[in-house]
Amino acid sequence: MEDYLFRTITDQDISSMVDLLMRRQEHESQLFPFLKNSFLQMERISGRLREMLASGSALGVGAIQNGQLVGYLVGMIRIDTRSGRCVAIPYEGAAISAGQPAELIRHLYAEASVLWLERGCFTHSAYVPLADSSYLDAFSRLSFGIEQVYAVLDLEEYRPFRNANVEIRLATKEDGDVMARMSSIISKYQNTAPAFMPVFPEVLADIREGFRRSLEDPDTVVLLAEKDGQAVGFHMYDTASPGVMVPDHCVELVVAGTLEGYRRCGVGQSLMNAGCRMMREKGYRYMTTDWRITNLASSTFWPKCGFRPLAYRMARVIDPNYAWANVNNPCIQQF
Ligand SMILES: CC(C)(COP(=O)(O)OP(=O)(O)OC[C@H]1O[C@@H](n2cnc3c(N)ncnc32)[C@H](O)[C@@H]1OP(=O)(O)O)[C@@H](O)C(=O)NCCC(=O)NCCS
Repeated sequence: MEDYLFRTITDQDISSMVDLLMRRQEHESQLFPFLKNSFLQMERISGRLREMLASGSALGVGAIQNGQLVGYLVGMIRIDTRSGRCVAIPYEGAAISAGQPAELIRHLYAEASVLWLERGCFTHSAYVPLADSSYLDAFSRLSFGIEQVYAVLDLEEYRPFRNANVEIRLATKEDGDVMARMSSIISKYQNTAPAFMPVFPEVLADIREGFRRSLEDPDTVVLLAEKDGQAVGFHMYDTASPGVMVPDHCVELVVAGTLEGYRRCGVGQSLMNAGCRMMREKGYRYMTTDWRITNLASSTFWPKCGFRPLAYRMARVIDPNYAWANVNNPCIQQF
């Protein structure tokens, strides 16, 4: 990587970054045509990158070759009392020009990660596009592992499952207690092996309130599945906000769950049939959802429904001992 010059990204780089990102997305949309969306325009991409850089938490590096920006990597620093200090590289946060090797992404990371560590950020995550394998290849070879899968279903291609003996209905404002009961399904399931996600009581309380509130929101659609008059599962939908990785005319399946004891009986499949039918009738063409790769049920179920991954969130945690156990420490230098 000798013929590159690496330097911190500033808002002076935005027009070159727009060019790199637009070209990256043109390439992504060859495999995922729905990514050729109305967001893929110079002004909107430029606005998004400007917003990122103006937020005050963006920190990244560009690679210059022959006076041109040929790649960039920008992370957003997040400081949170529960998860600590971390850096998240958004979907728009990395792009290299066509013809540049995946190795350039590794070198951009080598430069940017030093700045992030200096700010105490040892946990790094990245939204990785999947059509161009360079990104997955580079992040995998930087010891990033897959955490979350982001996927799209083309509702015109949905093949309904055989309906089980389940009634599906729209939830109403009277279903607050039902939603409160459903609200811990995902957290409790993901607390078990092999996801091992911690459950915090204060977070469960927030989720429960959010589930109750969803019934008041006119933009949210909640479907309930009933067996023998009892609610046993749900789907919650919202219109997807426009973005670089969001198709036009898209609804998001935000959360879904089936009560323990009723799983693998066709409840999820019946909800999916009803949800897809309803969303097509409402004029949506695409549905997005995301799941933990370690969630055995959802990582099996959603692909069977026809969801196709378009991006991964990958993560790496650097050993915090590095803060003192490094070659600049005099007690290490004596060796
Ligand atoms: C994912 C979930 C919503 C599916 O609902 P469901 O009512 O169990 O689904 P169905 O019975 O209609 O379909 C079952 C199919 O899903 C897959 N599946 C469901 N649970 C599975 C598991 N634990 N392991 C592997 N595959 C599983 C299988 O393909 C299964 O078909 P099969 O039984 O013929 O093999 C449900 O398992 C659930 O609530 N999980 C816990 C909460 C959760 O993870 N929610 C999703 C968050 S993204």
